[in-house]
Amino acid sequence: MNEKHILGIDVGGTGIKGAIVDVETGQLQTERIKILTPKPATPEAVITVIRQLMAQLDYSGPVGCGFPAIVQNGIVKTAANIDDSWIGVNIEESLGRVTGFPVRAINDADAAGIAEMRFGAGRGKNGSVLLITIGTGLGSALFVDQKIVPNSELGHIYLKGMVAEKYASNIVRKNEELSWEEWGKRLNEYLVHLERIICPDLFLLGGGVSKKFEKFSEYLNTVAPVLPAESQNEAGVIGAAVFVNDNLQKEQRASI
Ligand code: BGC
Repeated sequence: MNEKHILGIDVGGTGIKGAIVDVETGQLQTERIKILTPKPATPEAVITVIRQLMAQLDYSGPVGCGFPAIVQNGIVKTAANIDDSWIGVNIEESLGRVTGFPVRAINDADAAGIAEMRFGAGRGKNGSVLLITIGTGLGSALFVDQKIVPNSELGHIYLKGMVAEKYASNIVRKNEELSWEEWGKRLNEYLVHLERIICPDLFLLGGGVSKKFEKFSEYLNTVAPVLPAESQNEAGVIGAAVFVNDNLQKEQRASI
């Protein structure tokens, strides 16, 4: 097995995706498999799906896991779009135990951000770059001169008296049957608000809906430019694989 080909998993509120990624080029080495997120998405149920993905991809080795919550030193700290029983679980240990291989976990938006900064629309961009992933929730990944400020959770700021992701996520667009114009204007209010707080030099938009960027880009009027992510739905998987590889290498260097 090529040790630069690593499994990246992206646990989402709707689907759990996985693919083997070449961590040097960011290219997928296999198709991306998606299994619906079990309901309730308890640790046991999600871990069972991840094992299923590994078996389908015939993979054994280190695993990078993007997770839709604050993840600090492997421990899940919040649960907005995942079962509450995750809070306090060390995902690296529990998944590592069942797979027998090292696992490193990271917030899903941070994973997508890492992929975009290394291989996508954020390549070579310095200053502050804010990636917003738009899906079931709103995730954020903040970079300063290419270095991440982890767990920024800017989908949870308040806008119009509610948590922003309940106002402008893609699920809200679908559930409320908003037109591209209606939803695009909501997204714009959110980005303009973020601009007042963080003032990034560049916004990147990720998640599946970024493929439809041309349908809503005309409603966005932030001062900073807004670009769609290049790897769109695959960024989470790519970034998770890169994250585990970077971390294992760093840990190895530190132990010498
Ligand atoms: C979570 C974030 C996550 C985002 C996208 C939010 O509800 O709090 O951690 O990045 O959803 O999945």
